[in-house]
Amino acid sequence: TRVLVLNGPNLGRLGRRQPEIYGHTTHAELAHQCVEWGQALGLDVEVRQTNHEGEMLDWLNAAADDGNPVVLNAAAWTHYSYAIHDACAQLTAPLVEVHISDPRQRPEEFRHTSVVTPFAVEVVAGHGVDGYRLALELLARG
Ligand code: DQA
Repeated sequence: TRVLVLNGPNLGRLGRRQPEIYGHTTHAELAHQCVEWGQALGLDVEVRQTNHEGEMLDWLNAAADDGNPVVLNAAAWTHYSYAIHDACAQLTAPLVEVHISDPRQRPEEFRHTSVVTPFAVEVVAGHGVDGYRLALELLARG
């Protein structure tokens, strides 16, 4: 099975971005790990990151057309983008929502809502980059 791991804005700076919150693993390292975790689970994993909402929408629309399962960390878009919400609504294969931190435990009120959760089979949050492995395991289990 082909699985898309889609990461939203500012996640390209993983490892350098607020490491006390998001850890020291870079996006390149995360991508490499996801591919390896996928291989061990029999999944063909492709990892992408964008700071451009329209690009993310194009990827989600293509995943809807192709019937691909998605692991989505929509980052800040999670909390306010109805376009991301509408794109997630169209997915046919399972969607797992991932956050490195646990947005619900963070002090900013705006992080306490998610437009993605209504369409996710599971939310994995607060497990650091290991959350992506947990998400891939969920999808591999089916
Ligand atoms: C995040 C949490 C979001 O609140 C934040 O805007 C991010 C990253 C996470 O992975 O913990 O950019 O999705």
